Amino acid sequence: MESLIKRAAKDLAESKYAIALTGAGMSTESEIPDFRGPKGIWTTNKEAEAKAYQRYELFLNNPRAYWEEMLGLQGTYGTFHEQIRQAKPNPGHYALAELEALGLLKCVITQNIDGLHKKAGSKRVLEYHGSVNAVRCISCGSRFAWEEVSLDELPPRCKCGAVLKDDVVHFKEPIPLDVMEESEKEALGCDLMLICGTSAVVYPFANLPRMARFHTRRLFAGLDVVGYKTNVKIIEVNADPTPLTHEGVSDYLIQGKTGEILPRIVEELRKA
Ligand code: APR
Repeated sequence: MESLIKRAAKDLAESKYAIALTGAGMSTESEIPDFRGPKGIWTTNKEAEAKAYQRYELFLNNPRAYWEEMLGLQGTYGTFHEQIRQAKPNPGHYALAELEALGLLKCVITQNIDGLHKKAGSKRVLEYHGSVNAVRCISCGSRFAWEEVSLDELPPRCKCGAVLKDDVVHFKEPIPLDVMEESEKEALGCDLMLICGTSAVVYPFANLPRMARFHTRRLFAGLDVVGYKTNVKIIEVNADPTPLTHEGVSDYLIQGKTGEILPRIVEELRKA
């Protein structure tokens, strides 16, 4: 592990445009359960997972019922939001914020809806699956803080007249266009991608590392050649190997806890 931590510090120091991609494994050390780890929310509650897959459809078909359920939610989803609001950043979040402050990390693209990267001081954060801290208009894309939105009438409406939804992106819900486009630009433009605490099984997020690793060149109509980009370093920090590890999309996996490994990488960089 130590040699890989030193290798990651060296790779980061030599990078010109490093970004981080993160998942729920960043926040388990902040007492927020992940989804697919041994004690994950979906691992331990398949019914909750099935319900999560229907939530966006409910919103589209009956936004009032969606809001009544979401606001009154008990059980996993409601408790989950409560846990998130109480949570504090952990050393892993602070380490990524420090890498940004050192000018070594340009952006964090997170699947997490807990807002802990921003709480830890990261400035450029793309919340790929939205955030519990905002409400979004599904038509014009405007985002509002909860306190700006009146919930006297359900569903609440945007100034543009469309129905508002909490900013959290549900299964089958499109990724907000602004975040999607910016994330793809970052993935295509980076020369180092630090992937922390994600099982890398949910798409389209899991496409981002593949966009960084492979490029497609059109030889002629109908024949595209997929090339393996060797000028990008993809490093995983995760408790377990993922499909990115098995498929050789990442160069190496530092296996262990994000809250321990990431601060060690920062320490190595400070020593250099
Ligand atoms: N340090 C390192 N890795 C960890 C830690 C930790 N402290 N805790 C958990 N992990 C690993 C788990 O082993 C797992 O491989 O982090 C990964 C978390 O994977 P998931 O639980 O699948 O979470 P994530 O990849 O973020 O899920 C993606 O799925 O349900 C949707 O929208 C939800 O954004 C979420 C998406």
